[in-house]
Amino acid sequence: MKDKEVNKWFGGSLNLKEEKKFIKKTNKSKEKMLFGIELPETKKIIGIVSLIDMDYKNKQAGLLSWLGNKYWRKGFSFEAKRIVLNYAFNKLKLHRLHAEVDERNTASMKLLEKVGFKKEGIKRDAIFKNGKYYDETIFGLLKKDFKK
Ligand SMILES: CC(C)(COP(=O)(O)OP(=O)(O)OC[C@H]1O[C@@H](n2cnc3c(N)ncnc32)[C@H](O)[C@@H]1OP(=O)(O)O)[C@@H](O)C(=O)NCCC(=O)NCCS
Repeated sequence: MKDKEVNKWFGGSLNLKEEKKFIKKTNKSKEKMLFGIELPETKKIIGIVSLIDMDYKNKQAGLLSWLGNKYWRKGFSFEAKRIVLNYAFNKLKLHRLHAEVDERNTASMKLLEKVGFKKEGIKRDAIFKNGKYYDETIFGLLKKDFKK
């Protein structure tokens, strides 16, 4: 993913070879599921939504996503997240989804709230970046609160 604006919120930048390897590995694993966001006109993958840390025993998983910055603020992530949430709750029969977000990432927090997540708490100084600590906000969504 060669998008500086997106990589700001992720650990590091992968090159194409590493990225392909990552996607292959992810989709083999039982702990993660990766869904591409495809632009219908070009059939190009412009972002992803992923279910991570799948915990089948407790019926829960983490949710994360990114989208190429050219495509921001068009409603793509909102639509894609709702499709994956519907799949997670109604096909995989999960009970709860969670997401952890850097306190400075307003876009991501607003998006989570728009799809129905509630703020559950703060992990203080959970992120160390460029010599500074930042809080991480924990969000959760229960199946009963997800409006189809
Ligand atoms: C967060 C991200 C996925 C949002 O994608 P997007 O497709 O632009 O979001 P949408 O257009 O679907 O917006 C849905 C809602 O999210 C919120 N939102 C999105 N971008 C926002 C921004 N820059 N500032 C404030 N709110 C924002 C708004 O509530 C918006 O609803 P509205 O348009 O009715 O106001 C995208 O900005 C991104 O990839 N960021 C970098 C990676 C990242 O932070 N991922 C999350 C890590 S957990």
